Amino acid sequence: MKYPKEYLDEIKTRLKVSNVVSKYVQLKKRGKEFVGLSPFKNEKTPSFTVNDDKGFFHCFSTSEHGNIFDFLMKTQNLKFGEAVKTLALQAGMRPYTFSKADEEREKAWKEYTGIYLDYVTFFHNELINNPGSKKSLDYLKNRKLKFDIIKKFKLGYVNYNSNIYEKLEKKFGKKSVQECGIFYFDEKKNIYVDRFRDRIIFPINSISGQPIAIGGRIMKNNSFFAKYINSPETQFFKKGSNLYNIEKARGLSNKLDQIFLVEGYMDVIGLNNNGIENCVANLGTALTERQITILNQFFNEIVICFDGDESGYKAAIRAAEKSVIELQPEKQISFLFLPEGEDPDTFIVKNGKDNFIKYYETNKILIHEFLFENLKKQTNNSPTSLAILEKKLRYISNSIKDQYIKKYILDFFLGKISSLTPNLSRGKQFTIKHVASLTATKKIYNDSISITKEQLQEFSILYLIINNFDFFKKNFVILNDINFVTDEGTKVFSKLLKLLETKDEIDLDKLPLDNDTLEKINKFASIKHISKNIERDENKISEIFYEMKKDLKNLILDRQISQLESKFSEDMDQTTLNQIIELKKLQNNN
Ligand code: CTP
Ligand code: MN
Repeated sequence: MKYPKEYLDEIKTRLKVSNVVSKYVQLKKRGKEFVGLSPFKNEKTPSFTVNDDKGFFHCFSTSEHGNIFDFLMKTQNLKFGEAVKTLALQAGMRPYTFSKADEEREKAWKEYTGIYLDYVTFFHNELINNPGSKKSLDYLKNRKLKFDIIKKFKLGYVNYNSNIYEKLEKKFGKKSVQECGIFYFDEKKNIYVDRFRDRIIFPINSISGQPIAIGGRIMKNNSFFAKYINSPETQFFKKGSNLYNIEKARGLSNKLDQIFLVEGYMDVIGLNNNGIENCVANLGTALTERQITILNQFFNEIVICFDGDESGYKAAIRAAEKSVIELQPEKQISFLFLPEGEDPDTFIVKNGKDNFIKYYETNKILIHEFLFENLKKQTNNSPTSLAILEKKLRYISNSIKDQYIKKYILDFFLGKISSLTPNLSRGKQFTIKHVASLTATKKIYNDSISITKEQLQEFSILYLIINNFDFFKKNFVILNDINFVTDEGTKVFSKLLKLLETKDEIDLDKLPLDNDTLEKINKFASIKHISKNIERDENKISEIFYEMKKDLKNLILDRQISQLESKFSEDMDQTTLNQIIELKKLQNNN
C-alpha cells in the first residue's frame, strides 16, 4: 500500500527537520545548518548536520542521510508506516488508514482545491487583464500596492456578472461545486450565486500552498454590506487551523527568528509591500492554540501586532491568555501595540519599514509582562485586590503546559507582586533582592522539585517568625504546641526559640542561621508575598500563624493517613484501621 504523495509532502511541509531531530539529538545552530553529535555512532566532535532548507539530515561520519521519515526509521527502529503515523500526529494531521473513506477524502480534496485554484486564477487574470476591472486596480493602487504584490498574493476581482458557476460545474460536477463554499443558494431565484461578486478577493492557501478559501472586500465602505466576507468553514477549511500567508512566511523561518501575527489580509499585504514578509494573519477570529503551535513549529518569536484600538487590545488580551499556555523554552511570544487608530498596514504606509522595525524594537512587550501589566491596571494596592491579582496570575501560570516555563512565569509574577507593595515601615526587611534571571530561576526550579509540602509550609512559618520577631517575643506562648517535622525545620525553629527567649534586641543581620538555610526560606516561603501587607497588624499575624500551624498539622496527618491506608490495603489489619480512624478524628478536630 502506498501513501499518496500529497499526504507525505504535507507532513514534510508542516514539520521542520530540525524540530523533529532535536527531540532526539541536541542541535546547535551553525550558519544555515544545525550540527550535533551523531545518533548513529559514539563521537566527541559533532559530525551530524541538519538542513531545514533542503529538508534532510546528513551524518558525515557514517554517511547516513535522509528526510524526517528516514530519521525516525533509522534512529527509532520504526517501520515506514509507523514513522508516517508518528510524524502525522506531530504535524496535527489525521492518520491515513487506506480505507475507502480516506480514498474518497483524497479525491474530494483534489476537486476542492481544483475548484479554488481555477476560481482564483480566473479572477486574478480578470483583475490584471480585463479593462472592466479598472476601478479595482485603481483601488489597490490608491492603497499604494505595487503590481508585484498584487501578483504575489494573486489578488483578484470578481465582476458583478460572474458566471463561472456553470463552467466549474461542468468540470468538477454539481456536488463539489455546490459544497465548496464559494457559492450560496438563492432560494427566491432558485440559483447558486457567487458570494464574492463585486469584491476584491484574497486567496487563502493551505500551509502547502493550495488555495482552500477566500476573503473578499468591498471597495466602498458602507454599512449595508459587510466590509469583508469569507468562505464558510468546509471539510477542508477550518479557520482556527489556518493562517493567512503561512505558506509563504513558513519558508522564511530558516533566515528569520520572528513572525508578525496581524489581524487582517491588508495588514499582511501592506507589510509585504513595504519589505516585511515574515507575517501572517489569523483571519479575523480569535487566535487558537493550533495557530500558535503552527507558528512555534517554525519561528522562535511570535510578535502579536493587532490594531491600535480597543478591539485590537481586547483581542490581544485573549490572544495572550490563549498563547501563554503554549509557551516553550527557547521560544518567545511578544506583543506590539500600535499608536491609537493605526493598524500595521496604515502604520507602515505612513512610516516605512525601518521605522516599523524601530518601533518594534523599542515597544515590544513580552507576553508575561503584558499579562501582568494588564491585570495590574485593574488593581489597587489593597490586600484583597492584591490577593485577587495573585490568584489570577497563579491561574495563568498554572495553565502553562511546559513545567519549566510554568515555574519561571510564576516566579516572575510573584516577584512583581511583592514589588508592588513598597517597603514603608521597618528599615530592615528580611528579603533577598528578587532576581528573575533565567539561570537563577532554573536553579530554584531544580531545587523545588525535591521540596516537600511540609518543608514549604515550615519555610513559611519560619519566614513569618523571622519577620515578626517583636510580635513573637511578646506572644511567646503561641509557639508552644507547634511541631516541625523536617530535620532542617526543627533545627532552625529551636534556634529561633532560643533567640526569642533572650531579652536582647535581635539583629536580623546576625541570625545564627547559615546562608543556605536563610536563602531557602526566603525563596520558598510562599507567605512572603502577602506578609508585607500584614506588617504590624498583630491580629493578622496571629491569624495567619494559626492558619499555617493548622495546615502543617493537617499535612502531617495527611501523610500519616495515606501511609496507613496503603498499609491497610495490604494487611487488612483491624489495628491499622483503628489508627486511621483515630487520625481522621484528629484531623476533623484540627
Ligand atoms: N474581517 C472579517 N469580516 C469583517 C471584518 C473583518 O472577516 N466584517 C476580518 C478580515 O480578515 C480582516 C480582518 O478581520 O482582514 C481585520 O479587519 P479590519 O481591521 O476591519 O480590516 P483591515 O484589515 O484593516 O482591512 P482594510 O485595511 O482593508 O480596511
Ligand atoms: Mn486596515
